[in-house]
Amino acid sequence: SATLGQHAAARGKYFGSATDNPELTDAPYVSILSSEFNQITPGNTMKWQFTEPQQGQFSYGQADTVVSLARSNNQSVRGHTLVWHSQYPGWVDSVPASQLLGVMRNHVTNVAGHFQGQVIHWDVVNEAFEENGTRRQSVFQRNIGDSYIAEAFRAARAADPTAKLYYNDYNIEGIGAKSDAVYAMVQQFKAQGVPIDGVGMQAHLILGQVPSSMQQNIQRFAALGVDVAITELDIRMNLPRDTTKDTQQANDYRAVVNACLAVTRCVGITVWDYTDKYSWIPSVFPGQGAALPYDENLNKKPAYTAIHDALAGT
Ligand code: G3I
Repeated sequence: SATLGQHAAARGKYFGSATDNPELTDAPYVSILSSEFNQITPGNTMKWQFTEPQQGQFSYGQADTVVSLARSNNQSVRGHTLVWHSQYPGWVDSVPASQLLGVMRNHVTNVAGHFQGQVIHWDVVNEAFEENGTRRQSVFQRNIGDSYIAEAFRAARAADPTAKLYYNDYNIEGIGAKSDAVYAMVQQFKAQGVPIDGVGMQAHLILGQVPSSMQQNIQRFAALGVDVAITELDIRMNLPRDTTKDTQQANDYRAVVNACLAVTRCVGITVWDYTDKYSWIPSVFPGQGAALPYDENLNKKPAYTAIHDALAGT
């Protein structure tokens, strides 16, 4: 039977997975990663902490490893992420406020330049809004101001004119204060000619809580003239798993896939790694997990079948 990636491609979309370098020593894991998906996102090693650990010293070895693996498997790569309030090196906090815009531009220019032609998308700015729709008070917001997002997009476009440039965030899958704020920003960027091409909805979801407005929300962003990608999908549950929860999770995954399939400009879906063996959830939400379509032993769960059948249209 065809893979998730093949079924997605037949619908004009991709179905991908995040991965991380330490996992690439796990041969059975890599075998599925390499065959089942037609898109890869490096889960950590393109972040500022990894790519510019000391000011002006760029380091691409680990990210290059992921990119070349993807290339050897004919998988596209989403770049993640250029400017984020987390996982940046400590020296950034010591940059004088008046110099931070130049430092940010230099980072974006170098990283997007290095991967020019090798990534289909960049998550240019990640998680810049609070739940109530105000700007998160990150080091970039405090020291550069509201304009830092537009400036990051302009620098990314100049460095890599072929990559589609995305704003990426969580809890913007449904209509609400946070997605309204992102919507207003995209609308403003379009009016002002700021080069934005897409919105990434991370979709770190909770069992039984796929937002009912998800398709409508994807549609309203598409209507602004941007693409939408589901960029970090997982659906966590209270442990332990049981049959009832697995069935609910399968239904939830199906709902997300169908919401994307219903909108032409929803270009693809990425799970935030594909197996419970390497999920970030249990370490951050104790007592929760089992969020992905393969279990810890790399066996397919009901969620896998639901995704497969939704993509296949059966
Ligand atoms: O690299 C060190 C390693 O040397 C050390 O032994 C180990 C001990 O804990 O930690 C390793 O660093 C971890 C890093 O992942 C690399 O594995 C950090 O502790 C850990 O906090 C970090 O977590 C990452 C997290 O972002 C940080 O916020 C997750 O792997 C990654 O999946 C997660 O991804 C984010 C997206 O980028 C943005 N959206 C939310 C998503 C989930 O948090």
